[in-house]
This record gives sequence, structure tokens and C-alpha cells, in this order.
Amino acid sequence: MSELSEKELGGLPTVAGREWIRACATGELPDDGGHQIDTTPPVSVFAVAGEFFCIDDTCTHEMYSLSDGWIEEKECVIECSLHMAKFCLRTGAALTPPASAPVAVHPVARVEDTLYVALPPSYFQGA
Ligand code: FES
Repeated sequence: MSELSEKELGGLPTVAGREWIRACATGELPDDGGHQIDTTPPVSVFAVAGEFFCIDDTCTHEMYSLSDGWIEEKECVIECSLHMAKFCLRTGAALTPPASAPVAVHPVARVEDTLYVALPPSYFQGA
């Protein structure tokens, strides 16, 4: 399903059970919040202090987009803007109520100014 060129794929590590897709240019990431990618389920990419993270975009509390949330840079956390649950961007752990279930985390790679994320094939079934 990958639409990446062989040159792009050659610059990315193999991640078992996952396929790389082009996410966005680094310049497309907002200073606060994330860049949503239209997979099924959707995922979002975040930039925090020069590092990049990808998590499932849907808050596990009430199906709200975490890309609309607020980044707490010091703790590397995204706060849902609907009811303020916080999730660790490194692990996906739900850190504060009302969310209790984690979100999935996904590998991110940067090649020059382009970000790629590695997702399970099931994320492309709705495409
Ligand atoms: S929808 Fe995210 S905390 Fe309620």
C-alpha cells in the first residue's frame, strides 16, 4: 500500500508489521497541537523541543481529536482540549482523568524536512 518511492523507502528503517507513509513536512506542524493524518483510525504527529511523535489521534475518553489539544512541552504531554485528559507523547499513557486507556504510539522518522510514520497495515483499510 506504500506510495513511497524506492529512494524514500531506502532511507527508512524496517519496522516489522508496519508500513511507512509520508506524514508531512516539518514546517507543516503547528507550534501547538498536532498534524492529523487521515488514516483509519486517524493519527497525529507532534513536535516537541525538536523531537517528533506520532500517536492515535482520538482521545480515549470521548472520541475527540487530540491534534486540537495543547502540548505541554516540559512534560512531553498532549492535553485533550475537550475535557483536559493528558497523554504522554512518548508512551501513549493516559496520565490524568477522565481518560484511563492509553493511545497507541507509532514510530516517526525524519528524512531532511519530511516526516514519515510507520503504521500497521490495518490503518490503511479505510483508505
Ligand atoms: S474527550 Fe478527551 S478528555 Fe474527554
